[in-house]
Amino acid sequence: MAITLAFDVYGTLIDTHGVIIALEKLIGDKAPEFSRTWREKQLEYSFRRGLMQNYENFAVCTSNALDYTSSYYKVPLSQKDKADLLGEYKVLPAFDDVVEGLARARKAGFRMFAFSNGSAEAVEMLLKHAGIRDYFIGVVSVDEMKSFKPNPGVYCHFLRRAGALGADAWLVSSNPFDVIGAVSSGMRAAWVKRSPDAVFDPWGIEPTVTLRSLLTLAEQIEDECS
Ligand code: LAC
Repeated sequence: MAITLAFDVYGTLIDTHGVIIALEKLIGDKAPEFSRTWREKQLEYSFRRGLMQNYENFAVCTSNALDYTSSYYKVPLSQKDKADLLGEYKVLPAFDDVVEGLARARKAGFRMFAFSNGSAEAVEMLLKHAGIRDYFIGVVSVDEMKSFKPNPGVYCHFLRRAGALGADAWLVSSNPFDVIGAVSSGMRAAWVKRSPDAVFDPWGIEPTVTLRSLLTLAEQIEDECS
């Protein structure tokens, strides 16, 4: 059976810290720290909404997290600043290694999907804007399940939607919580560790392979499966 790849989107294909340039114009030096807190809160809100079974889509988590972060850093944002920042979030850039990594994976014959907490509409727009939509057979969103990663149900949903079995399907993600979620749900997983300083959660559940960039993805998966 052909190997299926589920690419995480935010933080793996698309750089969420792409907002730093827009943030710098508004808040100067605090921009990198602000961006980090914004992303951490966005994920925390998705986890909490999943646990509370109080689903609102990922864009709501992003918007609520922006409000929290602006209060936390005491940097008031006008309605226009906020709309501009959320607008930037819809057209975030891809990481540098993405186009070449996806091209190599496609050449290797993998069945490729985008699989995200983001709504299908938001993910379609991001991928198109980054010029990478055509690498994927389709977009699978957790929105179809009204829950978020790492609920095991969303990985199971991915497998059904992609017509794949866990043993033949790999999550590709830079987010350790996502890798652990996929492995716990019976998938294989490649952790994309672009920074040497990235730390994996010490839960005793390990990625199947660890990559320094997407450039070696196809090769490392083929080695692992041979
Ligand atoms: C996603 C989250 C993990 O794209 O950022 O699913």
